[in-house]
Amino acid sequence: MPTLQQKKSIADLTDKDLRGKRVLVRVDFNVPLDGDRITDDTRIRATLPTIQYLVKHGARVILVSHLGRPKGITEALRLTPIAKRLAELLGSPVAAATDTIGPDAKAKAAALKDGDVVLLENVRFHPEEEANDPAFAQSLADLADLYVNDAFGTAHRAHASTAGVAKDLPAVAGFLLQKEIDVMGKALGHPDRPLVAIIGGSKVSSKIGVLENLVKKVDALVIGGAMAFTFFMAQGHETGSSLVEDDQLDLARDIMKLAQEMKLTFLLPVDVVCAKNFDATEADCTCHIAHMQAGQMGLDIGPDSIKAIEKVLATAKTIIWNGPMGVFEKAAFAHGTEAVAKAVAAATERGATTIVGGGDSVAAVEGLGLADKMSHVSTGGGASLEFLEGKQLPGVVALNDK
Ligand code: 3PG
Repeated sequence: MPTLQQKKSIADLTDKDLRGKRVLVRVDFNVPLDGDRITDDTRIRATLPTIQYLVKHGARVILVSHLGRPKGITEALRLTPIAKRLAELLGSPVAAATDTIGPDAKAKAAALKDGDVVLLENVRFHPEEEANDPAFAQSLADLADLYVNDAFGTAHRAHASTAGVAKDLPAVAGFLLQKEIDVMGKALGHPDRPLVAIIGGSKVSSKIGVLENLVKKVDALVIGGAMAFTFFMAQGHETGSSLVEDDQLDLARDIMKLAQEMKLTFLLPVDVVCAKNFDATEADCTCHIAHMQAGQMGLDIGPDSIKAIEKVLATAKTIIWNGPMGVFEKAAFAHGTEAVAKAVAAATERGATTIVGGGDSVAAVEGLGLADKMSHVSTGGGASLEFLEGKQLPGVVALNDK
């Protein structure tokens, strides 16, 4: 289990360690853009505690991030709009370098005064970043005296700016990285019980590792979303034209067998909301899973399933939720996801620890205005999945031990 307890953190650094020091901070500013308009700045806001701490203690802050998956320099993926937004959020100027390790980056990093901030250009403009090229990592390290990794969203990548550079500089965790790992680490390692995991989304194949890891740890495992149909098929039910992954039927059987052996509550939906195909915007019917017919496609969980999930969540002390219950982007099939979001929010209210991770479920709780009603909404998509799989994250492993 990755843990930060043995890793050095920014909280261990004082004014004496930071004042006048050039600090390279890996952040994950991979935010959604519409042209040069940032449509969701959550990831930028999430790094403010680390940046503000460094600024307050007189560090010279050099931020480095990727944006998208460019192949070489890509004008639409320059970080200029992000520097602008960050300056607004900080209420102080943020310089934007026009390159990452080139003359402008070097000049701007050298010109920083105590408490100043510069954002380097998109680190993925260099293929050496993803190749974790040691010379490229060294060039990044040459800009600074110290390295802070606050990019939880990219901690599952062993890249030059997330892992390689930590070999060349003293390397510590930022507040965001620390919070993510602490909250999810406790939930998986020594949770307040009952621990309930709700796993949804369309494909079993994308959640294999998560299911295999969680089934050994949780008191109840709730399955929703289209992936439930692979389990139904494995149980011998008619699943109509619902999404089923034939090559995952054995895995579904193994998970159900393991759940039985572990004597945990394993909750599949009991009823589903159906339509004729994925393009439908209205539901045709709601039926018990045993009554599904050929030609029907399940696109959401039904009211009896919602009641059963609410019952399990009502006594949970820790809840981990990853993946929506249905096609929540369409109002007719959003009820299951909405009900689960409300039940998880209610659990937070009565003192449970509630964790939401994964792009779609995070988008759902944000769309419902419930994000601030969760104990923790992860900034990592792939990273939070790998964490829930029990994998070591290279961006964490690379940091200095305490
Ligand atoms: C993410 O959005 O999940 C992270 O920023 C990582 O991006 P990547 O999948 O392109 O490495």
